[in-house]
Amino acid sequence: MSEQPVAPVTGPTVRPRRLRTTPALRRLVAETAVEPRQLVLPLFVREGIDEPRPIGSMPGVVQHSRDTLRKAVAEAADLGLGGVMLFGIPEEKDSVGSGAIDPAGILNLAISDVVAEVGDALTVMSDLCLDEFTDHGHCGVLTPDGRVDNDRTLEVYAEMARAQAHAGVDMVGPSGMMDGQVAVIRAALDASEHTDVSILAYSAKYASAFFGPFREAVDSSLQGDRRTYQQDSANAREGVREALLDVAEGADIVMVKPALAYLDVVRQVRDAVDVPVAAYNISGEYSMVEAAAAHGWIDREAAILETLTSIRRAGADIVLTYWAAEAARLLRR
Ligand code: PBG
Repeated sequence: MSEQPVAPVTGPTVRPRRLRTTPALRRLVAETAVEPRQLVLPLFVREGIDEPRPIGSMPGVVQHSRDTLRKAVAEAADLGLGGVMLFGIPEEKDSVGSGAIDPAGILNLAISDVVAEVGDALTVMSDLCLDEFTDHGHCGVLTPDGRVDNDRTLEVYAEMARAQAHAGVDMVGPSGMMDGQVAVIRAALDASEHTDVSILAYSAKYASAFFGPFREAVDSSLQGDRRTYQQDSANAREGVREALLDVAEGADIVMVKPALAYLDVVRQVRDAVDVPVAAYNISGEYSMVEAAAAHGWIDREAAILETLTSIRRAGADIVLTYWAAEAARLLRR
């Protein structure tokens, strides 16, 4: 039996740890940055209240009054955030979501309030969808047998887009997953001389259990689910297809939603389109971290920054997150 030469123990010649030695080095070689300008803060405004109302399932998030909404957007502007996404909760809901197209409806009033408050300092965005306004909680109007009527809903979306543009919004966010919604909204905006109003399309939006806390946030009356219009979580290619369709229909930005369970879709969409890509770090993703942190099970601030970094790393140029203001403060440190 021949003797095996014994290699002297000199240690590895390649040492990736070298670049992790100090905070300064780690900062120098970081591949991904999160900046306040890339963050969009979703905000809820409720008709008929004077004081903000906490949302139990989203600790730290509230339904704003019109007054406190103004304060929240002024703060968002001071923090250098990229924008705000507004959601309205009307006092009265009906089967066709009339409050959405009423110029005196809560969301349209809130848009004017916010634009008056911050001017051009922030991009003011609004959710363009009927679920906050309908008594059945679906994103569109229903057929007599209770299905969501795609094409009749598009007519309402067109009117909603005109109302939001008239109120002064910079960017509308159609989130109802109706086929053809971006084209119809683009045409409605252009025909009403709102060619400058841009569209952030919720393109790849999945029927997700992680939307749970949002139902409380907007007092939703939804029974059942949205599986006939939102996508099946099994499908990534279909998400890319939806994004490409929206770009062809005139979307200025496309979005993937939720973010964390769909980071592969974020990456695939980023590689497939040439417009900015957003991802929505949704209510359930927020609440999971908050709940775990409240138990002392995870380091809350570290988890927030790691979450946002992961979404940026996957390819999102823009992140919608309930932590936008807090993250901006953390990033300043
Ligand atoms: C639809 C809309 C929803 C969210 C944003 N826009 C709810 C849904 O489609 O079920 C969810 C946001 C969140 O969960 O944080 N108007």
